[in-house]
Amino acid sequence: MAAQVREPVAASAASIVAEKSRPIGVFDSGVGGLSVLRVLEQRLPAENYIYFGDTARVPYGDRTPQEVRDFTVEIGSWLQEQGCKMILIACNTATVLGMKALAAVAQVPVYGMVEAAMAGAMAGVAGAAAGEAGGLWPLGLIATKGTVESGGYQAAVAAKAPGKPFYAQACPGFVPLIEKGILTGPQVEQAVEKYLKPLKEKGVGTLILGCTHYPFLAPAIAAYMGETVRLVDPARQLALMVEAYLKDRDLLNEGSMGTREFYCSGDGEAFKAQGSNLLGRPLIEIRKQVF
Ligand code: DGL
Repeated sequence: MAAQVREPVAASAASIVAEKSRPIGVFDSGVGGLSVLRVLEQRLPAENYIYFGDTARVPYGDRTPQEVRDFTVEIGSWLQEQGCKMILIACNTATVLGMKALAAVAQVPVYGMVEAAMAGAMAGVAGAAAGEAGGLWPLGLIATKGTVESGGYQAAVAAKAPGKPFYAQACPGFVPLIEKGILTGPQVEQAVEKYLKPLKEKGVGTLILGCTHYPFLAPAIAAYMGETVRLVDPARQLALMVEAYLKDRDLLNEGSMGTREFYCSGDGEAFKAQGSNLLGRPLIEIRKQVF
């Protein structure tokens, strides 16, 4: 009788541990999502992560909405097959163009960048007047062409703060620089000035880094915009949202340091070099995954 009672309890405890230790799937078109992974690792180091960078098909920002939607569903479904307990679209372009389609077919929760970005932008400063130093408004966004043209952020801002001044700027030159590991120097400074001048002239108070590659250019962007402009890296808020989700369901992994697996669809050596540089630690093994 006692054995009958104990057995199911033991089995269920084991399955809870197994459930907790399932990895979190994180993906981007390339190395940009590593800016999200590094924040997740700081906040939730015990989690196991699988990262995929679609470096054979980067940049997503210049592709058609249909292509990005298909890639998002394809990669998200693959991460689910790898046993991920949740999927994080660490790419704004894939979030605005593909998250709905992926969430419709996924059996695990799917998180993207836009909600996190909005939460980060609005946090704490919504009361400040337009143009006031350190104030929220006008709100600026820098992102890929695909993200800006999708209207996804425009809709999110209109829903949160109808009628408030919002300016979106596509920066198609940034991703190729970052994928090559060029984060400082004259090419970066020229590109930063070219894309950010219009936003600086509008006097934006808060600037959303609406592409996960851009936090790697944050020092150059901050230097150009000046210290009164608040830069929002949505990754921080995303990590908090992920933590809250897992905590609520008792799904946080146990232990102190989880595993990390890296995959890319393109040149593994190039990913290893850029990824190691961006994360500030050597990446040992990059596996290949081609769709
Ligand atoms: N890092 C991605 C984003 O957040 C996409 C960059 C690209 O591939 O164009 O939008």
